[in-house]
Amino acid sequence: MIASKNILVTGGAGFIGSHLVKHLVAKYPEYTVFNLDALRYSGNLENLKEVKDQKNYRFLHIDITDLDRLKEVFARHSFDFIIHLAAESHVDRSIKEPFIFSHVNILGTQNLLHLAKDQWGTNADKRFYHISTDEVFGSLEETGKFNEKTPYDPRSPYSASKASSDHLVRAYFHTYGLPIVISNCSNNYGPNQFPEKLIPLFINNILNNKPLPVYGTGENIRDWLFVQDHVQAIDCILHQGKIGETYCIGGNNEWTNIALIKELCAQMDKKLQRNNGASEKLIQFVSDRAGHDFRYAIDSSKIQNDLGWTPTHTFEQGLSKTIDWYLANSAWLQNVTTGKYQQYYAEMYNSK
Ligand code: NAD
Ligand code: DAU
Repeated sequence: MIASKNILVTGGAGFIGSHLVKHLVAKYPEYTVFNLDALRYSGNLENLKEVKDQKNYRFLHIDITDLDRLKEVFARHSFDFIIHLAAESHVDRSIKEPFIFSHVNILGTQNLLHLAKDQWGTNADKRFYHISTDEVFGSLEETGKFNEKTPYDPRSPYSASKASSDHLVRAYFHTYGLPIVISNCSNNYGPNQFPEKLIPLFINNILNNKPLPVYGTGENIRDWLFVQDHVQAIDCILHQGKIGETYCIGGNNEWTNIALIKELCAQMDKKLQRNNGASEKLIQFVSDRAGHDFRYAIDSSKIQNDLGWTPTHTFEQGLSKTIDWYLANSAWLQNVTTGKYQQYYAEMYNSK
C-alpha cells in the first residue's frame, strides 16, 4: 500500500506543472497535491479543470518571492515532497526583462529551500526536487551531448537564473544536508504550452495567417521531448532518484528549427485542409535571438539505466497530438492571447 503524503508542486498552473499535477492527482489518490502558483501570465487554472474538484487537490495562490505568505503555508502544512517548477521560463522575455528572472528564479527558489530546511532538517524520507533545464550547460557545437558531468555555462539571463538556482539547491544539500534531487530537461512541447514558445506560437500564427518569425538561419538545434514523457521522468526521479543526484532528461530527438517548422507546417496544412505549402509561405527569417545557443542535446543514459525511464512518444506522434489539442481548444488559445494577456503579448510580439 502507498503511504499518504503531502506533495507541494510549485508552478502547477503552468505548462509542465499542470500536466504533472493532473498525473499525480490521478495516479496517487493517497497523496494530497498542493499546487502553489502566483498565476502569472503563463499560469492558468483552466489547465487544471479536470482536477479542481478532486479531494486530493488543493490550490494555493501565492508568489514564491513572498516569504511571509510562504512561511504561513509551511506553518500550516507539513510536506513530504516539494517539486519546484515555478519560474519565469521564456528566454526571449529574459532578454527584455532580465531582473524579474533573477528575482523569481533565484530568490523564489531560495525561499522554498530555506523553509524546507527549517521544516525537514536532514530527514532522508523527504525530497526537495528542483525542475531545471539543459540550458544551464550552455551551447553545443555539431557533436557531443550534455550529461550530468557537463560544466555549467549559462548564456541567457534565463539560463543564468536557473543555473544559480541549481547551485543554491546543491548548496543546501552540501551545507545543511537538505534531501534534494535535480533534473535538467530539454525542450518540452505538448498541450497547454503558452503560445510564446516556438511550437504553440507557430501553431497560433498559422491559424491566424500571421508570419512565422524564424530567428537567424533556422539551423539552431533543439532536443524535443513530449511533456507527458517529462512527467513520467519526474515521477521516476521523485520516487526512485537518489538524494543529492542530478538526472539529465532528453528526447534523443534533435531537430533543426527549420526542419521542425517545415514538419509543423506540413501537418498543419493537412489538418486544416489547406494547399500543401500554404503554411510554409508564412515563414520569415528575422534577426537572430541575442546570444542564441546553437545546439542542445541530452545524453539520458543515467536515468534510462538507473531508473528505467525512456520516452515513449515519437516526435511526429507527439506533434500531431499537440496540434490536435490546439485545434480542439481554440477558446483556450483565444483566452491566453487576448484580455489580460493582450498587453503582454503585444509588448513581446509587436515585431512578430
Ligand atoms: P510556464 O511558464 O508554463 O509555467 C511557469 C509557472 O510558474 C506558471 O504557472 C506561473 O504562474 C508560475 N510562476 C511564475 N512566477 C511565479 C512566482 N513568482 N510564484 C509562483 N508561481 C510563479 O513554464 P514551464 O514551461 O511549465 O516550465 C516549468 C519549469 O520547468 C520551469 O522551472 C522551467 O525552467 C523548467 N523547464 C522547462 C522546460 C520547457 O521546455 N518548457 C524544459 C526544462 C525545464
Ligand atoms: O531547453 C529547455 C528550454 O527550452 C527551457 O528551459 C525553456 O523554459 C524553454 O522555453 C525552451 O527554451 P528555448 O529558447 O529553446 O525555446 P523556444 O521555444 O523559445 O525556442 C526554440 C527555438 O526556436 C530556439 O532556437 C529559438 C527559436 N525560435 C523561437 C521563437 C519563439 C524562433 O526561431 N522563433 C521564435 O519566434
